[in-house]
Amino acid sequence: MVTTIEASILAADYARLGEQAREAEAAGVDGIQIDVMDGSFVPDITFGPGIVRALRREVDLFLDVDLMIVNPENHLEAFVEAGADRLIVHQESCVHPHHVLRCVRDLGVEVGVALDPGTSLCALEELLELVDLVQIMTVSSGWGGQPFIHSQVDKVRRLRQMLDARGLRGVRIGVDGGIDTATAPLVVEAGATVLVAGSAIYNHEAPVAERVAALRASVEWK
Ligand code: DX5
Repeated sequence: MVTTIEASILAADYARLGEQAREAEAAGVDGIQIDVMDGSFVPDITFGPGIVRALRREVDLFLDVDLMIVNPENHLEAFVEAGADRLIVHQESCVHPHHVLRCVRDLGVEVGVALDPGTSLCALEELLELVDLVQIMTVSSGWGGQPFIHSQVDKVRRLRQMLDARGLRGVRIGVDGGIDTATAPLVVEAGATVLVAGSAIYNHEAPVAERVAALRASVEWK
């Protein structure tokens, strides 16, 4: 499986969101992750379907919508109609994750489930057949710029083994939080193939193109 890089716009300059998305596209990222926060599942309040629709007009990239919201089932259609290519539901955010993931599937987009650092892989056992991607949160959901939680590297490795043992070799593992040139090789070695990066791509130290090239080079060997 090819390792893909998604730029998380949570770290971008909100006054220039379209431009920042185009910069990431020109830098060769494979997708944009849009962190939807509702002030309930996580403290911050960020983006709605309107931002997804606007970005859909700006870039031809894969739009990955990370739903850090309670009752995600109430908002699935709106994000798909806005142009999302994948919806990620957090296992901890809904009472009936099995039902919600099947609803996402029925809407015809890719299905993802995310797991918080404190949640055991056991919570996914009945859900793995329903998804295209499992996103291991490598920071606690809700903030950008946090330090990477190293204990999640072994979780990625165990998840890859769990998926392969069940013949689910096509299910991809994503990682989100604290991903940079030092941590990306660790998670890729363990089996992750979707890297979501915010502050490692959008920061004032270097242009987006340089940051993306450095991140891709850090896992090129894989
Ligand atoms: C955290 C978000 C992450 C965050 C990543 O809840 O889901 O996507 O934007 O940001 P960095 O890469 O800065 O940790």
